[in-house]
Amino acid sequence: MRPFSLINLIGLLFSAAVFANPQYIKADALIDVTNGKVIKSPLVEISEGKVVAVTASKDVPEGADVIDLSGHTLLPGLMDMHVHLTSDANEHGYKRLNASLPRTTLKGVGFAEKTLLAGFTTVRNVGAPGFADVALRDAINDGELVGPRMFVAGRSIGVTGGHCDNNLLPFEYGVKSDGVADGPWAVREKVRENIKFGATVIKFCATGGVLSKGTKVGVQQFTYEEMEALIDEAHMRGLTVAAHAHGLEGIKSAIKAGVDSVEHASFIDKEAIKLAKEKGTYLSMDIYVTEYILGEGEKAGILEESLAKERTVGKTQRANFESAVKAGVNMVFGSDAGVYPHGDNPKQFARMVKFGMTPLQAIQAATINPAKLLKQDKILGSVSEGKIADIIAVKGNPLKDIELLEKVVFVMKEGQVYKQPE
Ligand code: ARG
Repeated sequence: MRPFSLINLIGLLFSAAVFANPQYIKADALIDVTNGKVIKSPLVEISEGKVVAVTASKDVPEGADVIDLSGHTLLPGLMDMHVHLTSDANEHGYKRLNASLPRTTLKGVGFAEKTLLAGFTTVRNVGAPGFADVALRDAINDGELVGPRMFVAGRSIGVTGGHCDNNLLPFEYGVKSDGVADGPWAVREKVRENIKFGATVIKFCATGGVLSKGTKVGVQQFTYEEMEALIDEAHMRGLTVAAHAHGLEGIKSAIKAGVDSVEHASFIDKEAIKLAKEKGTYLSMDIYVTEYILGEGEKAGILEESLAKERTVGKTQRANFESAVKAGVNMVFGSDAGVYPHGDNPKQFARMVKFGMTPLQAIQAATINPAKLLKQDKILGSVSEGKIADIIAVKGNPLKDIELLEKVVFVMKEGQVYKQPE
């Protein structure tokens, strides 16, 4: 080893000085998701990964380090509350049995990068076997990989033979998903284990699903007693809970038991919408994915029984999305990417607008609302003073053309730039 020289010391001081130097971004507009307004000609000052101030672009100091995004609109980094970063959209059904856990984890590396470059600086990964999502998150946090900030569930918790189990093989193979638990104490133990091995959110299956073999999509799984125990345990430990639920009874039970978000919510009715509103429960309705399942699903290995289920679910879900938006329920953007290709997450925005949201509401559903759901709105969800500098940009005005979000040209996560306009 060479002795520490004066040159080293100067280098060190210099890089520290550069790091401490504020960075500026100027653009045509900034979407202020908190107040539902547009700030014209903003100047965002960033230092040490945080937003220091939002002022006007005429204020740019002499000689400052400015990223010039004239012609562009700035938005907070997008947040997707329902992804599976270690799932491959080209492999469904029996095809999925070919990939080992290490193999699927490695696939997650590329998927994480695609997701970030599509503009999603934060995701909630609602289920990965073997804590593959914990490994991915830790590698991203340690700077080994490029990807979004991840809130992770680890193993999804579910009943024997339910949507969160794996029912593809007959009895003699002895296959059982590692999140299976039956009974209130068994689910409490799963929650404790998930926390022990790195989960920061809890996901459970409250009804059957579309893509699982042999489950009825409308039928409740877990008794109310089990749901209550699971949610109580998670809340006691300071974690929020997401419930996969298509069927009405499962949706209602999960909301009554205090769940933080209902995923899919396909067969929700007026009464359950009212209940969600009263309780402040968030709905995460994946209304794009039906197009991929019915269009590409068969090629990718989705079972015929699942395609049949999807034909009943997709349309109803979209109609109920519209009712939920009208009723003013808390909504978050959740795509189920992993069922469809990672990086295509933003395709859902146009559908959210088509089925009743204003473009601003759709953007809020992917920024400030998820930050609140995750109880991170002090540091995430908007471009404002003191928050983490997660900022994206599109060319033009996404409030006029929501599809611009499918072409994010600038991505900054925690003050670091990952994508710039060509
Ligand atoms: N993972 C979900 C399930 O298998 C996907 C549902 C997709 N369909 C829909 N219309 N959102 O149940």
